Amino acid sequence: MKIFLDTADINEINELSESGLIDGVTTNPSLASKSDKSFIDLIKEISSVIQGPISAEVTAENLTQMIKEADKLRKIADNIAIKVPLTVDGLKCCKKLSNDGTMVNVTLCFSANQALLAAKCGATFISPFVGRLDDIGIDGIDLISDILDIYDNYGFETQVLAASIRHPLHVLQVAKVGADVATLPPKIIKQLYDHPLTNKGLESFLSDWKKSGKKIT
Ligand code: E4P
Repeated sequence: MKIFLDTADINEINELSESGLIDGVTTNPSLASKSDKSFIDLIKEISSVIQGPISAEVTAENLTQMIKEADKLRKIADNIAIKVPLTVDGLKCCKKLSNDGTMVNVTLCFSANQALLAAKCGATFISPFVGRLDDIGIDGIDLISDILDIYDNYGFETQVLAASIRHPLHVLQVAKVGADVATLPPKIIKQLYDHPLTNKGLESFLSDWKKSGKKIT
């Protein structure tokens, strides 16, 4: 499973990309609005650090304006994936951009039928929002499984990008059902490293080593 970083915080991107674990970045208008940089400058800066797909979302709601915004964004770097909402105009935009060979991430997906439409429009990524479905009492993991089954039935190449991941259990669950990508907020990536028995074990190994006076020479 590929791991994308779900943030527009350049310091977090710099820090976490050093691990070599980050396969891409997703941003959204809410995340980008927290930055003091212009959106274009922000995406430019992220693209100087990250080689994999970087999702940059259009904010227009009609096709003509969406294409104008997408044109500006896709010029920034070759690895920009234009993020469009799962609306009628968003899907028209997806079809147009994917026909031109531009990567498209269709976002705000909450049903398997929506995901089917996005794949038919040539989306590179479909972003089902797991946590936001859980928030309203619908199992977000079931949605990921349903989309994977449907894509498998018809050989769609659209990658299932599990979004709105809220805790490490979601990461385990989407990995078990076979999501292609999970986009994770920095805090969750950091939580994945942690286990109290790792810390406890390391502490006792190092204390025994120190007592022995041995050195690696
Ligand atoms: C992904 O592309 C979305 O920007 C993000 O995962 C939404 O997460 P949230 O529901 O925690 O805001």
